[in-house]
Amino acid sequence: MFPTQRPRRLRRTPALRRLVAETSLAPRHLVLPMFVADGLAEPREITSMPGVHQHTLDSLCAAATEAVQAGVGGLMLFGVPKPADKDAQGSGASDPDGILNRGLRALRDELGDSTVLMADTCLDEFTDHGHCGVLATDGSVDNDATLTRYVEMALTQADSGAHLLGTSGMMDGQVGVIREGLDAAGHLDTGIFAYATKYASAFYGPFREAVGSSLKGDRRTYQQDSANRRESIREVDLDIAEGADMVMVKPAMSYLDILREVADVTSVPVGAYQISGEYAMITAAAQNGWIDRDAAILESLTSIRRAGADVVLTYWATEVAGWLSQSR
Ligand code: PBG
Repeated sequence: MFPTQRPRRLRRTPALRRLVAETSLAPRHLVLPMFVADGLAEPREITSMPGVHQHTLDSLCAAATEAVQAGVGGLMLFGVPKPADKDAQGSGASDPDGILNRGLRALRDELGDSTVLMADTCLDEFTDHGHCGVLATDGSVDNDATLTRYVEMALTQADSGAHLLGTSGMMDGQVGVIREGLDAAGHLDTGIFAYATKYASAFYGPFREAVGSSLKGDRRTYQQDSANRRESIREVDLDIAEGADMVMVKPAMSYLDILREVADVTSVPVGAYQISGEYAMITAAAQNGWIDRDAAILESLTSIRRAGADVVLTYWATEVAGWLSQSR
């Protein structure tokens, strides 16, 4: 008549639930993406990402120090050049005095090896057309010409103190040429955190504001189609064969199935990026009083970890690291 199996028994108290939780979330699992902008007098809040700022060099160092003190696992830095400094080749990306490289040096000076400093290795923030690579005469993104620029960019970032390079441009062969270039220049210890599977996504919307992107059109000729699954395994296999030290799945929440599959087959650590649109959705719903903000944040991060991420990039990294260390 009555059930003899009662799964509810283990859910009855917080202590029981904590004892049997299969997934953990700790500050070290979280990486904070940060934006440093050229020519700013004060940090500027990004309208579509309330609580996230474009930083000056000073405010960048302060926010990074706060994140590291909260225990985050690392920092991922993006540069926002002045509009007048953008050009077709994205020259600012490989200029040692470009804003991203100045930001990397400032953070490395401030923090040394006390955190893992990562750099976005992609041209879109620096090109006047907003694409992740250079353009061919027909207006398409030229894969192999872009690879040359990526190597130049990677070498400058390694010189500027990045521990890991986040290759996010989705050009074929990018990990291989960057690895070769780093090795030839003696940067044997600079690692590659490859955005191995990166989908063309509407959820990048707020990021375009965050970096002042001038993109018209979309990135569907180089980022993956959300309809595809198998292709992600191919991308991951290629990046590992080319020398990736870690791989990333991006975005996170609409791609948890992909994350699980990748985590099941890879031999390297796996990251997932909870992107700008995911941040914006939860923030906006919470501001309207429609969801419980903190609970939604924790649930989203736990589900990304449960799906197989060793590391989660999230704009909430510092705040959540604070919550997690208080609850110990
Ligand atoms: C490319 C890059 C993008 C993001 C991270 N790296 C933008 C894109 O591919 O369109 C998006 C991150 C986010 O939305 O939070 N440099």
